[in-house]
Amino acid sequence: MRFDIITVFPELFSGVLDCGILRRARQSSLADIRIVNLRDFARDKHKSVDDRPYGGGEGMVFMPAPIFEAVEYCRGEKGIPECQVVLLTPQGTVWSQNLAAEFSTIPHLILICGRYEGVDQRVIDCLVDREVSIGDFVLTGGEIPAMVVLDSVVRLIPGALGCRESTINESFTTGLLDYPQYTRPAEFRGRVVPEVLLSGDHARIKKWRKEQALEKTKRARPELVTRKLAQN
Ligand code: ADE
Repeated sequence: MRFDIITVFPELFSGVLDCGILRRARQSSLADIRIVNLRDFARDKHKSVDDRPYGGGEGMVFMPAPIFEAVEYCRGEKGIPECQVVLLTPQGTVWSQNLAAEFSTIPHLILICGRYEGVDQRVIDCLVDREVSIGDFVLTGGEIPAMVVLDSVVRLIPGALGCRESTINESFTTGLLDYPQYTRPAEFRGRVVPEVLLSGDHARIKKWRKEQALEKTKRARPELVTRKLAQN
């Protein structure tokens, strides 16, 4: 799967791309991730990519030309036909595990990291297929949201997770939050691992985990329980 990330801060991405599962997915060619500097598509000697908003107001707005040219460059001459252009913005659809699963089936994603007060509306009208927000709060730009989208999509590409990692039982795939996990030692600072987990009785363990996941979800995210009950 191919990703192009269009940003004015390419240097922010080196850490996330060079560690863990993202690094492994890149090395094994499951994910071809390219960071594209928007300033390379600026038209003046100052490398400007933004300007003041028509009609007045605070802040700066990304101009259309550099973004159009950057997207055309990412699409390439032949282009991957099933390419989707995504703008990271607080005005977008809220990101979810379901969207991550849907995006993981798209062969080519172009992620545009918004900044400042926004991007020229013509970019949204003519180029962007999806606007995505990672939650109801405002960050200084779309770079961290792009990392969130990238990480949650790449780990769903078949083969990206090792055999010791799996998405089957995790939060949101089951519709509930995860049950509590313990590892050695069996007693730590006077606190012991629940007896059932040491019992070797797999049926009991499965039942306990289901109950714990339900309890945890009721406490932390009651709306998920309501949604799950409505689906069943
Ligand atoms: N840019 C700034 N805040 C954002 C958010 N919450 N989601 C996506 N992009 C953003």
